[in-house]
Amino acid sequence: MEPGCVGENDGLTFWLAKPEDYADVMSISMDIYGGNDYLPHRYHEWMTEPDRVVLLARRTGKLVALESGVLVDGGRTVVVEGLRVCPTERGRGVAGTIQGFADSYLKKLYPSIQVKRMTRGDDPGPEKLSKFKLLARRAVLSLLGEAEDFDGFTEALKARLMSENAGGGAVHLPLQTEDKQLRTILLQPDLAQRLQLPGGSIIQDWQPLEPIESNLAVLRRRNLTWFVAAGSGGSPDNNRPAFLSFYTPPYPVPYGFRLNIDLYGTDPSLARGALVANLDRVRAQLRGKVAMHLYMHQAVAESLKEFCQTQSSVQWGQWRSIWEQLFLERDF
Ligand SMILES: CC(C)(COP(=O)(O)OP(=O)(O)OC[C@H]1O[C@@H](n2cnc3c(N)ncnc32)[C@H](O)[C@@H]1OP(=O)(O)O)[C@@H](O)C(=O)NCCC(=O)NCCS
Repeated sequence: MEPGCVGENDGLTFWLAKPEDYADVMSISMDIYGGNDYLPHRYHEWMTEPDRVVLLARRTGKLVALESGVLVDGGRTVVVEGLRVCPTERGRGVAGTIQGFADSYLKKLYPSIQVKRMTRGDDPGPEKLSKFKLLARRAVLSLLGEAEDFDGFTEALKARLMSENAGGGAVHLPLQTEDKQLRTILLQPDLAQRLQLPGGSIIQDWQPLEPIESNLAVLRRRNLTWFVAAGSGGSPDNNRPAFLSFYTPPYPVPYGFRLNIDLYGTDPSLARGALVANLDRVRAQLRGKVAMHLYMHQAVAESLKEFCQTQSSVQWGQWRSIWEQLFLERDF
């Protein structure tokens, strides 16, 4: 084997990705996820992230595939992300080969791993799904607009929230929460049940993490802005929220900028308030063309979709309806 090569199979050689492979990786990443690919932005962070492995597959020196895995949940879980195969090599089993190699490589490196987890935005059908445990299906809404359109959109939603609440007293938007309080909230044993967390996890921008102590450092690294809301009648700053939400700092993607807002809880009116609070806080950070993706429990999706039908220039994206995020697990 050539120096630096970590394995070979089926005519492919496997390598640990390096910062200087960036241009090659971008060259096999054209048109992925309808211009919403996170990897151009994340690649260099991935190079230095603790407990992450990024593997490349080459055929006669040419890059043909990438797969990555990050160790979470105190070492019990590997979350695989980033899978992609060069367009001219698709449909020939390359994805299967690099996934197989990545599994055996990760197993050797981290014997503690018991399960492999992933999220995906397409439903591969019952036959493929039968190989996995389907932990959750989450609803996703996607809207597009110019950054400045989000001001009008947010104001329109705020006005709707006020008018819907007319006669019901003041509107309490969820409060932004700080690190110490967040720790208390996330480590409560009944959190997953109370908020109906998907598969018992927080899924941050497609990455599932169990709300346990060892994952708090991972969440902290993501620089998230969190909001908590009490249920009706509760004090808005109590430590047992009925709704939790956060946004990931908006980041550049080939389409423009991507904004992900993750919502947890099943009360539709709290989901509306959470959306407004997140938008109000993040809108000053938006630039250029923005693709906003909202992830939530199925129970609040129809109501939030209806709430977002405003006269503003923010419009539904290519995903006109509610689409799904699947959270899958496989024994390792
Ligand atoms: C999805 C993609 C990686 C499949 O590559 P491919 O080499 O054509 O895939 P193959 O037809 O050889 O399928 C091989 C295996 O990969 C799996 N696979 C396909 N799409 C997958 C996905 N989105 N996530 C995880 N596994 C996937 C297949 O189920 C199959 O597994 P099996 O052998 O256990 O049934 C490729 O089409 C691609 O790069 N698409 C653009 C990027 C993308 O959508 N990535 C998905 C990340 S969620």
